[in-house]
Amino acid sequence: MLELIKAAKGYIETKTALRPQIGIILGSGLNRLAEAIEDAVFLDYCDIPAFPLSTAPGHKGRLVFGKLGGKEIVCMQGRLHFYEGHKAEDIVFPIRLLRELGVKTLIVTNAAGGINEGFDVGDIMMITDHINMTGTNPLIGKNLDCFGPRFNDMTFAYTPRLQEIARAAADNVGITLREGVYIGVTGPCFETPAEIRAYRTLGADAVGMSTVFEVITAAHCGLEVLGFSLITNKAAGIIRKPLSGEEVNEIGRKSSEVLGNLIKQIVGEI
Ligand code: HPA
Repeated sequence: MLELIKAAKGYIETKTALRPQIGIILGSGLNRLAEAIEDAVFLDYCDIPAFPLSTAPGHKGRLVFGKLGGKEIVCMQGRLHFYEGHKAEDIVFPIRLLRELGVKTLIVTNAAGGINEGFDVGDIMMITDHINMTGTNPLIGKNLDCFGPRFNDMTFAYTPRLQEIARAAADNVGITLREGVYIGVTGPCFETPAEIRAYRTLGADAVGMSTVFEVITAAHCGLEVLGFSLITNKAAGIIRKPLSGEEVNEIGRKSSEVLGNLIKQIVGEI
């Protein structure tokens, strides 16, 4: 694993002189944030040695290095999902790569279904904690001691200091920021109404098919994390209407500008 990460790192360092300390993962339909990046250098995943490839619709599959809010950043435009058939360890390869490249802060975004009945479509929820409902964990197997300990703490996986910055930034730009717990499932099917009722009882506010593996791995290797869910739909059964992936991507595209502005503001203040 370490050898593969070193190979990817070596390639990237020949392509850009930027050494960003902030990494951003863009979720479904949130691609457009990448358009706001200045002096952008695009590196397709397929050209990076050892980089696992994404197939999800709405996901471009490239790293974008550049500047946002006056800071150097690197953005993952497109992420890997368990439902694509990727192994958990491949899904988190980019997280460890970012860490090796010098990233200290990871901002994760995703599209999610609103479980909390107070949430509306288009709302932005800051993730204050998560429930890993996937039934597995990317850290299973031999521990990579060079990244972190065998049993790593998750109490502050979502960094309180960054949440304070995000609340202030949302106030500044006049965005109502919801807060809550993200429950990560494997997908690819959407949930049943009974599952959503169960997840609500467990304490979840939003549900999605990504993020938890990435945040577990980021916490393991000592990255500070800030997470946002864009609520693209009310979760299954809340309204009597079937869910569709196209609708999720469409709402993501429409509402991503607001989240993009918020992230730009936050990056300037980290
Ligand atoms: N469930 C799971 N993942 C999702 C949803 C949902 O309702 N909306 C967007 N991603």
